[in-house]
Amino acid sequence: MLPNRAPEQSISMFSRDLMAALASPDREPIFWPPTRTGMMSAWWGHVPFAHWLVTALRPGLIVELGTQNGVSFSSFCEAMQRGHIVGRCFAIDTWKGDEQTGFYDDTVYQNLFGFIQSRYGAFAELVRLSFDEALPCFDEGSIDLLHIDGLHTYEAVKSDFENWLPKLSDRAVVLFHDTNVRQNDFGIWKLWDEIRERYPSFEFPHGHGLGVAAVGKNVPKPIVKLSEMEEAKRTVIQGRFAQLGARWIAADSADQLSAMYRSTSWRLTKPLRAIKKSWQTFIKTLGDISRKPV
Ligand SMILES: C[S@@+](CC[C@H](N)C(=O)[O-])C[C@H]1O[C@@H](n2cnc3c(N)ncnc32)[C@H](O)[C@@H]1O
Repeated sequence: MLPNRAPEQSISMFSRDLMAALASPDREPIFWPPTRTGMMSAWWGHVPFAHWLVTALRPGLIVELGTQNGVSFSSFCEAMQRGHIVGRCFAIDTWKGDEQTGFYDDTVYQNLFGFIQSRYGAFAELVRLSFDEALPCFDEGSIDLLHIDGLHTYEAVKSDFENWLPKLSDRAVVLFHDTNVRQNDFGIWKLWDEIRERYPSFEFPHGHGLGVAAVGKNVPKPIVKLSEMEEAKRTVIQGRFAQLGARWIAADSADQLSAMYRSTSWRLTKPLRAIKKSWQTFIKTLGDISRKPV
């Protein structure tokens, strides 16, 4: 609502405030474009929030459990770099896949390794181990941002969270992906119900759901404020980040489609699709003829 002043004064103050808000450097991270384009991921919708979160938290240490093609991890690294934040980022994964993601070959790791080395090699590293094997590599109380995105059963996520809890710092934020998936044996939603009872938290329902929990006692104010918002404001924030994320989800779908058209299997099956189409046209024509009055 406009403040109660003379019309010319309110309009000029309003437009000045609006201009300042629109041009504010604080807003910039949510508009930074992602760098890991062309890679398949269910995480695309959360890239704008990841950029904002990293610049708001300014973490000294980020650890990700479950990286695959590196879409989420690259968004953390990109925000560290563009935000001039001094810290380290570690991605932990066997780069073999699992029952839910599916199993994949070594090219996934090789491709990501080259990408991370060339762009973020000064501060980011891929750790090719199981989550349990990697645990002793990190000090207690050291991690400021932990992203849990490995196997999504209730038991697996609960044990990932509990195993890594002692490693978290007093400013730590934990992200849980897929909080909004309730099919098959996905059980993060169930753990999320417990987490949000215990810690100040916020959830984005879009992009399969992303839970944000302020686990440390001294998490920076802007992040804690997210969890304190009244429902109407929370809905606005959720909607805006969903809109911003939709752009990258759409770009990902377009990339996947064009990769399919360029793929060898798509080109090899072209004659079969042509035969199928001719056959369908033939059947339809026969049908049309038989329905025509004589
Ligand atoms: C859903 S994918 C990660 C997606 C990724 N965060 C993104 O941005 O698209 C899950 C990954 O977790 C890995 N994973 C699952 N359980 C694991 C474990 N116990 N130790 C190491 N890696 C694991 C799988 O190899 C798989 O690559």
